Amino acid sequence: MIGTTNFGSFPALRMRRLRTRPLLRDMLRAPGIEARRLMWPVFLQEGLKVKEPIPSLPGQSCYSPDSLVEALEPVVNSGVNSIILFPRVAESLKCPEGRSILNEEGLMFEAIRVVKKHFPRLIVFADLDLSEYTIHGHSGIIDDAGVVLNDSTLEILSEAAVRLCRNGADGVAPSGMLDGQVSLIRNALEQSELSDSLIMSYSTKFDSRFYNCFRNAVNNTPQHGNRADCQISRSDSRQALRESIMDEREAADILMVKPALAYLDIIKDVSQSTDCPLAAYNVSGEYAMTWHAQDHGIGNRYALAHEILTSIFRAGADIVITYWANQISQILEYNER
Ligand code: PBG
Repeated sequence: MIGTTNFGSFPALRMRRLRTRPLLRDMLRAPGIEARRLMWPVFLQEGLKVKEPIPSLPGQSCYSPDSLVEALEPVVNSGVNSIILFPRVAESLKCPEGRSILNEEGLMFEAIRVVKKHFPRLIVFADLDLSEYTIHGHSGIIDDAGVVLNDSTLEILSEAAVRLCRNGADGVAPSGMLDGQVSLIRNALEQSELSDSLIMSYSTKFDSRFYNCFRNAVNNTPQHGNRADCQISRSDSRQALRESIMDEREAADILMVKPALAYLDIIKDVSQSTDCPLAAYNVSGEYAMTWHAQDHGIGNRYALAHEILTSIFRAGADIVITYWANQISQILEYNER
């Protein structure tokens, strides 16, 4: 009689054999976080040489286009290849229809031109949402009851998409979860011979309290009512999946789940249900929460961020949109070795 008969369990099966030799453990380890998979969300404001720290988002600032170029230098050098731009629009430029989104002399357009001039290869997405441009702060033209009018809002957004891409944006990211947002914008881009321009759709966007720090930063909180018509209820995983699948069928280039951390199961569901590249947005509240954790003795913020970003990739995201992108060098220190 020699040895063991049951090879499917202890003692024949010992997982520690794979862990006790450091180089074997290293050989078998899944890839760590990489800068090239991160997209940095950046806030813009008018002016020259302005870099205004954002109180609700420590480590982040609101930049005038020229100072954004300066801020981008180290970020690009650290290996981050893409950004998404959000404008903080002056109150005097807001109107009920958000028409200044079309103004090619405006902040967003200028920033795109300046950034692409200095960093021609950097992938630049323009967030496409009327909420930063409307007086009432809703993501579109609204009726008397405050409900967003889907089709007329998309007319403006399609025109804005064409102009943004003509001015050098690599793509647009429609964020209102309007029905048909991908197909109508795709049509408009095709008709304007912008067939190379990308659409990254906020395809699955939840109604979340984790956006509050962002809303403080750009001042787009709805003055009355909420965005329930433009966002999915947090408990509704079937609708969450359906929305992303619909956008894939409308030829979205990249899908998105937002927020990320409280929705890892949704990231997994979407990544397993579509063949489209998937971005996950590690939103402002998740970032601020992790940042402040260090001040409360919970742990080094970069170590915590490393663990959280790892979980988002592990869930199935191909790209993570994250405010940590400008601090990626500190985070990579925590890649396991
Ligand atoms: C809408 C938009 C928002 C965020 C990204 N795009 C805010 C909103 O829906 O009110 C939030 C991202 C974050 O919290 O970091 N343009």
